[in-house]
Amino acid sequence: MTMTVLVTGGAGFIGSHTCVELLASGCDVVVVDDYSNSSPAALDQVRALAGRPLTVYRADLRDRVALDAVFAAHPIDAVIHFAAKKAVGESMDIPLDYFDINIGGTTSLLRAMWAHGVHRLVFSSSCSIYGASAKTPLDEDEPAAPTNPYALSKWTCEQLLAQACQRYPELAVIALRYFNPVGAHPSGLIGEDPLGRPNNVMPYLMQVAVGRLERLPVFGDDYPTPDGTAIRDYIHVCDLAEGHRLALEHLGDATGLRVFNLGTGVGVSVLQLVEAFGQACGRPIPFQIMPRRPGDVARLIADAGRVERAWGWRTTRGLADMCRDAWQFQKLNPDGYRGTTAPVLSTSET
Ligand SMILES: NC(=O)c1ccc[n+]([C@@H]2O[C@H](COP(=O)([O-])OP(=O)(O)OC[C@H]3O[C@@H](n4cnc5c(N)ncnc54)[C@H](O)[C@@H]3O)[C@@H](O)[C@H]2O)c1
Repeated sequence: MTMTVLVTGGAGFIGSHTCVELLASGCDVVVVDDYSNSSPAALDQVRALAGRPLTVYRADLRDRVALDAVFAAHPIDAVIHFAAKKAVGESMDIPLDYFDINIGGTTSLLRAMWAHGVHRLVFSSSCSIYGASAKTPLDEDEPAAPTNPYALSKWTCEQLLAQACQRYPELAVIALRYFNPVGAHPSGLIGEDPLGRPNNVMPYLMQVAVGRLERLPVFGDDYPTPDGTAIRDYIHVCDLAEGHRLALEHLGDATGLRVFNLGTGVGVSVLQLVEAFGQACGRPIPFQIMPRRPGDVARLIADAGRVERAWGWRTTRGLADMCRDAWQFQKLNPDGYRGTTAPVLSTSET
């Protein structure tokens, strides 16, 4: 592919892996990130892995002046929009921040795209918009029923993108609803390194494995599942990154908004994940059963049939790969990116 792609949130977990994939496929990549949940060191690792440069701007997506300057400086063909806040629990405490950053960031980006004649967008959505649906597996026609401000912000973005596509028929938008992204690049150079206490099970497990946290809290062992713990559809972040490259390739197929689940279609319980991670790192992971968390559901598994029928896409990596690669990243970076010696980038650097 020879296109110039703007990646918002490119220093983050999924963004950094997608940048590697895009650079490897021949794209020129421009990143906008404010590093509110990431480190510039991630992008140095991306450059090292890909063996190619990429351009980075440190900016908040809601800063239209900064965004305009980025669009003016580069011949952007398409945008992949990852930048957002993503912690469900935190969104209950600070919902307005979630609406402001996730929805305000998206409208700011759309305005800049429109002003600069850029009409192609891949948007990071989430299976959380399905809420407490009991349907298994979940297909894209399941009605959205968000149960927290984070999920509501993602659903609102999907709706506003649909409306924008109606008003501006040149727009081509693909919303990808991810299930539970985990794992890391097999090199161990990039991975998931949230700032502060992890909110998701895999980074928590990783920090328990290196002794930074004592034990994994397992929320609920009385769900109607074989071992009583909640079942999720974990997807390797490299499969997800490949899904984004494919989405870019297919943006030109049609205008309007198209929506696809990205998951494996395979359910894994929390205890199965703990066991698999213990095998990957060679020692059992201590855990503690806690009460269920409000709003959690027993099962969330993707029906990923639509994307397979449309693009022939399916995941190729399993649970053992996800655990091995996540452990490799944690082993090589026990303090995350803070342990690396990469220099901090200024506003713009190639
Ligand atoms: N990781 C998951 O479990 C998951 C699941 C479903 C959907 N998603 C969505 O995927 C996207 C990427 O998730 P991730 O796991 O890589 O998260 P992440 O926090 O690792 O990455 C998000 C990046 O966006 C940046 N950012 C946040 N607000 C910004 C702003 N206002 N301006 C510029 N940059 C900003 C952060 O610094 C970070 O680098 C998010 O939109 C998230 O909602 C993630």
